[in-house]
Amino acid sequence: MSALAIPTAPLTDAPPIPLVGLGTYKLLGRPGAEAVATAIRSGYRLVDTATRYSNERSVGIGIAESGVARDDVTVITKLGGGDHGFDPTVTAARQSARRLGVDRIDVFLIHWPCPSLGLTLETWRAMLALVDDGVVRAAGVSNFTVDQLQMLFDETGRWPVLNQIQCSPALPRQELRAFMAQNGIHAQAWSPTGRTEGVLDDDRVTAIAEAHGRSPIQVALRWSVQQGIGVIPKSADPDRQVHNASLFDWELRDDDMASLAGLDLGESAARDSHVDEEF
Ligand SMILES: NC(=O)c1ccc[n+]([C@@H]2O[C@H](COP(=O)([O-])OP(=O)(O)OC[C@H]3O[C@@H](n4cnc5c(N)ncnc54)[C@H](OP(=O)(O)O)[C@@H]3O)[C@@H](O)[C@H]2O)c1
Repeated sequence: MSALAIPTAPLTDAPPIPLVGLGTYKLLGRPGAEAVATAIRSGYRLVDTATRYSNERSVGIGIAESGVARDDVTVITKLGGGDHGFDPTVTAARQSARRLGVDRIDVFLIHWPCPSLGLTLETWRAMLALVDDGVVRAAGVSNFTVDQLQMLFDETGRWPVLNQIQCSPALPRQELRAFMAQNGIHAQAWSPTGRTEGVLDDDRVTAIAEAHGRSPIQVALRWSVQQGIGVIPKSADPDRQVHNASLFDWELRDDDMASLAGLDLGESAARDSHVDEEF
């Protein structure tokens, strides 16, 4: 019986996804594999990686060595900008699956829309073909804005199952999330602790943390999961991994949520996927 019990959120036409997963950016090599295995043994059932993180092999080894059945763990990986285009996307998915050591990728995301390449739609069509061919269980995106999501649907009639976005109490992304909710697209937050936006040092956050006997990181993460937003905090440390997922035996009050709403830095503080690209 695992110590952590992490609830799930529904996905459209795909199995439900845990509300807390392990982020793996900068978890590399053997220590990376061990961090993944430790998290899964503690009760994590979702791991987020990407071709760009150069650690899909580590993640695959960590899952295999965790002792938990492969089918009980959801793996997300992401297509890099250098692999946009129909055929490159299909090839990249097979390479990611091989590095992960899996027969099928659970959730495959377009990492960034990269509009200047002019290949976003062709790439999305390939993602859907990969789902239809059974290479990928569910297709999603990351860092897509409202207009970029709408374009995918207008051209293919299919929405991504999830959009992984920069999101924290400092970057609540209200309009984008409302649009996603209307269209059945699950919101998952990257950099959910908001540490680079000053969330963890904010007096309002520390006061709420103190009142609940929790840490500022837990307040930031609870803010997301309480609204159904998934989080993928990264930690290499076993105790911090458990700490980051210990979010479901307490809750923020309405006045806490109202106070946290004051941290909003506005949409302009988020990375802009119309100009920001990662290849
Ligand atoms: N889709 C995208 O474009 C995108 C972009 C960025 C990130 N991501 C994903 O999102 C994940 C999370 O984002 P992130 O890694 O940028 O930031 P994060 O999870 O918000 O913060 C990670 C940092 O916080 C530290 N930390 C974690 N838990 C802690 C705790 N309880 N106490 C003290 N320090 C703690 C970690 O150090 P230790 O390891 O030493 O604990 C690490 O330095 C990434 O790993 C990646 O999987 C996706």
